[in-house]
Amino acid sequence: MNILVIHGPNLKTLGKREPAIYGKGALRQLNAAIRKRAAGKAKVRIFQSNCEGRLIDLIEENASWADWLIINPAAYTHYSYAIRDAISASGLPAVEVHLSDISRREPFRRVSVIKAVCVKQLKGFGFDSYLRAVDLAVQKNAN
Ligand code: DQA
Repeated sequence: MNILVIHGPNLKTLGKREPAIYGKGALRQLNAAIRKRAAGKAKVRIFQSNCEGRLIDLIEENASWADWLIINPAAYTHYSYAIRDAISASGLPAVEVHLSDISRREPFRRVSVIKAVCVKQLKGFGFDSYLRAVDLAVQKNAN
């Protein structure tokens, strides 16, 4: 099976960016952990972009390859109907992931316009949010 992993804006600076909230691990370490978790079970393609349109293009361009989408839309979570529509249009089962627990942060972060088009939202587990999403995709794909 094939899993498409997409990181949204400001996730390139993971490790340096507000480590008390997002942790000390860098994006390349997160990506290595995702690849390790998927090894032998799924092929993964991983992308990061700071641009809304690029994120939509990546979903579009990889939709026919992918069986599952794991996406951290970052701040776009809270207001991007365009990304929500792209996920819907792709027809892919998707997992929305967040490093932090958005339900316990500022009011604007408690809203996800993405959640309704995803199978599950995993938040607040740091890197483990992504790893649990990999497990979920692998497990559901096997059923
Ligand atoms: C985030 C939470 C968002 O509110 C924030 O804008 C991010 C990261 C998370 O992974 O916790 O950039 O998606």
